[in-house]
Amino acid sequence: MIESIIREIIDIKEILVPLDEFRKVSVLDALVERFDLIFRQEQKCLVDHTPVGYPAIEIEKIWASESERRSVIALVRVNHAGEVSAQGLYLGQAMFSRDQNNFLFLLKAASEERLHLAWCNRRLKELKGNASLFTPIWFLGSFVIGAAVSLNGDPVSLGFVEETEKQVAAHLDGHLARIPHDDNRTRSILQRMREEELVHGEKAESLGGATLPPFASKLMGIAAFVMKQTAQKF
Ligand SMILES: [Fe+2]
Ligand SMILES: [Fe+2]
Repeated sequence: MIESIIREIIDIKEILVPLDEFRKVSVLDALVERFDLIFRQEQKCLVDHTPVGYPAIEIEKIWASESERRSVIALVRVNHAGEVSAQGLYLGQAMFSRDQNNFLFLLKAASEERLHLAWCNRRLKELKGNASLFTPIWFLGSFVIGAAVSLNGDPVSLGFVEETEKQVAAHLDGHLARIPHDDNRTRSILQRMREEELVHGEKAESLGGATLPPFASKLMGIAAFVMKQTAQKF
């Protein structure tokens, strides 16, 4: 099975690089080259971590107490971890994506998640908070999960994006209800992220995302719950 998947993903490379660069490769070569291709494309999508289009233009809120500020830091830290995970998932899913359009969609979505990450990062700095201690784990774990999901084919992989974004939008609704009503800077970031997550989900659906079985959605919810509970504290 893995051999046929590798043959399919090599075809994408053939489209994206000049034909004379294409060569028959071993399974390991193909995986390394796909990995390299993903991270080179990713570099082109967004060359730095400048938070382009930072949505928070309102003036900073006057914090009623230290605990109020800390509670918002915890929420932003969770969203920061979520954006790290989203990038890991989508780049991992691009590892075994078969169709060129789906491959490019995943890279574009990942680059937009990186922009969301830059916004969360900046907001954390404004609030004098820190990112989760487990940030590298969130990325690596998500990358592995994303790659494993994409082994099941593009429709399942796109269905996974759809379900992920649906759960993220619901999660952001929860955070929007929890942040102080006058914290407009955090609110505008979360609102913009929510809008863009819904677009990712709609795009995945339009590309042919399959409906995931209920147990898969449940498992995803449990994994996200563990990540959120951990990132909120550490
Ligand atoms: Fe995002
Ligand atoms: Fe997204």
